[in-house]
Amino acid sequence: MRRSCYCGELTADMVGQEVVLEGWVNRRRDHGGVTFVDLRDREGLVQVVFNPQANPQVHGKAREIKNEYVLRIKGKVSRRPPGTENPKLKTGEIEVVASQLEILNPAKTLPFRLDDREVSEEVRLTYRYLDLRRPWMQHQMRLRHRAAMAIRQYLDALGFIDVETPFLTKSTPEGARDYLVPSRVNPGKFFALPQSPQLFKQILMVAGFDRYYQIVKCFRDEDLRADRQPEFTQIDLEMSFVEREDVMTVVEGILGTVFRLIDVELPEKFPVMSYQEAMLKYGIDRPDTRFEMLIQDVSGLFAQTGFAAFKETLEKGGVIRGFRAPGGAKFSRKELDNWGKRARELGAKGLISMKVTDRGLQSNLLKYLSTGEVDGLKEAFQIQEGDVLFLAADREETVAEVLGRLRLEVAQALDLVPQDTYAPLWVVDFPLLDWDEDERRYVAVHHPFTSPMDEDLPLLETDPLKVRAKAYDVVLNGQEIGGGSIRIHRRDIQKKIFELLHIGEEEARIKFGFLLEALEYGAPPHGGIALGFDRVMAILTGADSIREVIAFPKTQKAQCLMTGAPSPVDEKQLKELKIKLTVAPEEK
Ligand code: AMO
Repeated sequence: MRRSCYCGELTADMVGQEVVLEGWVNRRRDHGGVTFVDLRDREGLVQVVFNPQANPQVHGKAREIKNEYVLRIKGKVSRRPPGTENPKLKTGEIEVVASQLEILNPAKTLPFRLDDREVSEEVRLTYRYLDLRRPWMQHQMRLRHRAAMAIRQYLDALGFIDVETPFLTKSTPEGARDYLVPSRVNPGKFFALPQSPQLFKQILMVAGFDRYYQIVKCFRDEDLRADRQPEFTQIDLEMSFVEREDVMTVVEGILGTVFRLIDVELPEKFPVMSYQEAMLKYGIDRPDTRFEMLIQDVSGLFAQTGFAAFKETLEKGGVIRGFRAPGGAKFSRKELDNWGKRARELGAKGLISMKVTDRGLQSNLLKYLSTGEVDGLKEAFQIQEGDVLFLAADREETVAEVLGRLRLEVAQALDLVPQDTYAPLWVVDFPLLDWDEDERRYVAVHHPFTSPMDEDLPLLETDPLKVRAKAYDVVLNGQEIGGGSIRIHRRDIQKKIFELLHIGEEEARIKFGFLLEALEYGAPPHGGIALGFDRVMAILTGADSIREVIAFPKTQKAQCLMTGAPSPVDEKQLKELKIKLTVAPEEK
């Protein structure tokens, strides 16, 4: 007896045929002496009927069957009696009348029902094989597979070559902590798992491959969140002799292809926004452009203000900004107080809220403002009855951060974020460098190989923080789904950047000497990007965490609950590696 087809593939056209099916028992029901089993495989369910009159022996055996038993059955495809069809089921017009039954494997009672959506994540991850058995999890993983296939085909057609790069390598400069792997044959020395293939893909450009891609695991030891895993997958690519726009076009093509899998047509070209505009209007470098509620700077309105708090802020070089939340006037006094609390939690000194009623702007603060200032606010925000206006006055970074977060949270609370909408966006013109006050040195905003804008090169000498990078992030619905840049391919500029970053010649040689040397052997101009594949898939499937689209993810504490990794190792293994622990491994 060999399987003739999948359960979920049976159709009414096959009525009368003998089939052999193998799969799991989704459910058994006994009805008027007849036993019904919904048999399930990856393609779906079909109803199998065991009839005591037609086949008493097989029927007797069928009564032993429990949920999730693995069966092989032989039977005839029949049309269901009129009135018993199930239009919700793909195979709902038919059933299979069993003539033979083999129980291939019994199953213990499951720790949760497969159709229960409320199971705790801890249980789901511990029994991931059962969790993955659920049809919707299978759907997510198959969609992920189809997306990967579509991306490979798309990139292959454009001449990209898939080259594997090592996992046992040296630290890569993405700014997270490395995962280290001790080398037994080189006692005392360690490999670092790659945070990305960054240096290798640049080397591949020097080697003349022209277009490289890889769907590849990356490893970063960082604080975990819903959109961060210690090992995650990048769609990584690099191209030679290109400008920023060439890389953007490829990425727009990739994402267009992937979203077509769920019948969504993304715009052919994505809107482009400067980092400066994003920070001003959205308070964040990854704006969610699915809804408006833009932040506006109204500092200018208050240049002559008599209101002490605003005056003081402006004198100290701070800003006054705000946004208008349509429908926000329905927030109660208490709810508005809570938004104020939230703003303080996020670092603001306070938050001003003004409701707009049929009597205009309402706030006990109005008495401190001039008529001109109040009219200015009305005009600037184009207020409408039912709105609430939120204003914050503080240092520019604080105001941006606080209003940026509140904009998102208030929009959620007021149900103003459209669902099933996909708003991709490029953010460009990032600053090249940031200033680290603790270490009193510049740090790279992206990584140290990111090229400055040509026209900003002179600023490297005079005002480094003003230098913009040839870097670009791709953002979708407020999530950073990818980032990349045009790289430095000239040794002199690279040297200058290392100087600014306080990376000495010796340190540079030890850390990335091979790349620097390679750049001296005829490196082509090049640039690339990496997309976070897990994040793309989470958005595509509407999942609220990337753990939902990764077959075997880790918990927030970077543990695999199924295998128990990470775990203590044998004394013998440590001895071979010449490693001595200074603390005993934590007991679970
Ligand atoms: P970057 O560090 O921006 O760039 O990473 C690229 C994209 O990878 C995703 N990502 C993650 N996804 C899940 N878990 C994580 N811990 C995680 N970290 C990053 C994000 C991010 O946008 N080498 C450069 C690319 C380049 O310059 O070409 C790099 O790795 O979606």
